[in-house]
Amino acid sequence: MRTHYCAELNENNIGEKVKLTGWVNSYRDHGGVIFIDLRDKTGLIQLVADPAESSEAHKIADQVRDEYVITIEGLIRDRGEALHNPRLKTGKIEVVVEKMTIENKSEVLPFAIGDRAVNEELRLKYRYLDLRDPKMFKTFQLRSKVSMAIRNYLNQNDFLDVETPILTKSTPEGARDYLVPSRVHPGEFYALPQSPQLFKQILMVSGFDRYFQIAKCFRDEDLRADRQPEFTQVDLEMSFVNQDDVIKQVEGMVSAGFEAAGVKIKTPIERITYAYAMETYGSDKPDLRFDLPMVDVINLFEDSNNEIFSNIAKDKKKNRFKALKVKGADNHYSRKQLKELENFVRKFGAAGLAYIQVKEDGLKGPLAKFMSETSLNKLLELTKPEVGDIIFFGAGDKKVVLDYMGRLRIKIAEDMNLIKDEYKFVWVVDFPMFEADDNGNPTPLHHPFTMPNMDTWDEEDFESIQSIAYDLVLNGYEIGGGSIRIHKEEIQEKIFKMLNMTKEEAEEKFGFLLDALKFGAPAHGGFALGLDRVLMILSNTTNIRDVIAFPKTQKATCPLTEAPSEVERKQLRELNIRVKLPSNETK
Ligand code: AMO
Repeated sequence: MRTHYCAELNENNIGEKVKLTGWVNSYRDHGGVIFIDLRDKTGLIQLVADPAESSEAHKIADQVRDEYVITIEGLIRDRGEALHNPRLKTGKIEVVVEKMTIENKSEVLPFAIGDRAVNEELRLKYRYLDLRDPKMFKTFQLRSKVSMAIRNYLNQNDFLDVETPILTKSTPEGARDYLVPSRVHPGEFYALPQSPQLFKQILMVSGFDRYFQIAKCFRDEDLRADRQPEFTQVDLEMSFVNQDDVIKQVEGMVSAGFEAAGVKIKTPIERITYAYAMETYGSDKPDLRFDLPMVDVINLFEDSNNEIFSNIAKDKKKNRFKALKVKGADNHYSRKQLKELENFVRKFGAAGLAYIQVKEDGLKGPLAKFMSETSLNKLLELTKPEVGDIIFFGAGDKKVVLDYMGRLRIKIAEDMNLIKDEYKFVWVVDFPMFEADDNGNPTPLHHPFTMPNMDTWDEEDFESIQSIAYDLVLNGYEIGGGSIRIHKEEIQEKIFKMLNMTKEEAEEKFGFLLDALKFGAPAHGGFALGLDRVLMILSNTTNIRDVIAFPKTQKATCPLTEAPSEVERKQLRELNIRVKLPSNETK
């Protein structure tokens, strides 16, 4: 139906006859001559319907409204220098319409195409209109390019694309499962996979050696700006490898993906340990586009004349005392704004926010009074402050202090505009194998099939045991994670024992994997890249929904299809399900 896409045309086409088709982006009647901006996925071009050129076409042009679908035939001409529009790719030319057909009409739109300011729920309800914006199209073009490049890279490196089931059994990623009732087996349920983890390990037992899949994963967890209940991973697994081998392949794959987006990555990507990341940046996914490291100052408060501080300094395992020197902060933050910073950290459990201001006439701030002269000197040595700087302090329980100081670090970087416009990757390695749950019992930080670093094994202190697990972090987002897996029964048993999981429980949950591992399992390990998050960062948005064609809202609903929805009674009867709503809801 057409000879060109709208925005492919340019000055070189002047004098050519073209056939175009698309949507009416806007129309203006200028004293008899009608101007229409015609739009397709590539962008806009201006049409001119002049009764002097074709009265037929002009008559039809007079009937068009926004978002009508039209086809036209016409001649490309120069707009004339005075009328060039530099904001438009096709701004130097226009099409003099000779023939126009209305292919389809449109109702009045609920919002203008490309209007980002409207309520997101409305945009999602009419997602087809939202996606009609060529800017949105570009995002999905980018997504397609990146995933294609990754697919090609993996194909070239001998990875086999294998699909794994969606109707399956609960997988161990630690979120809540989405369940699907079985009609054939009343009272029994499938779980949607939180990841293909167990299947990809089984494929290694099968000798497939290198597997990958661009896989949909489902997790019923609390949603955030960078989380969806249904998301996509580039999932891979390799046999006879160690951590360095996996990291090298992932760096190659990520480089290929980013190159498709026009971004060159420097490899090898820097690696830091989990412990260093937590202690220095207060996060296991540190944003390294700005520096602002925290330094440990707990020793400097051992001899403090303030009892609260000296007490905190007594327990160096449980507590932390951190200093964050911020260059030029004293010139940036007013007294009132400093109070606001304090309120900010209070939200995350801080009792307050102590700081020392470095003035022309010395150090100002109550904390300085609580430090001995030697300690103060040591502080200056550690932080090397200059006039105009502020040193912020966080003290108390380790977990709480690292968390709020980490958040403070980011807030200050945002406030003071310290975040550089770049892609800053970092590997975080040597994760702990376990973390304490609310009752102080060990739970796996990744999943129970992660290989522990046996050199760090300590029956008495599970929190000190490290795993061979690694996360890839980009600009403060965890964009992927993986590990070397356990392939030996003795180690797996040790882990289940540590988790207080009986043989029967393990058998019931993951029996099929444990069985498979008994039949000659190779050493193996892998990784999964969060494709949506990667695209979110590449598209310069902080909203993951912007890079998913049909995403769910923060409440896990789809305004377009109105899922989830009630189903017919007959369906429920077939499934042997009776719905009991919470008592305050009647249906
Ligand atoms: P993990 O659970 O770390 O590892 O997931 C891998 C990556 O997937 C992305 N991701 C998400 N993206 C959007 N919404 C979500 N709800 C969501 N959850 C996770 C993140 C994350 O880094 N089976 C292991 C991988 C392995 O060990 O090989 C796994 O799934 O970017």
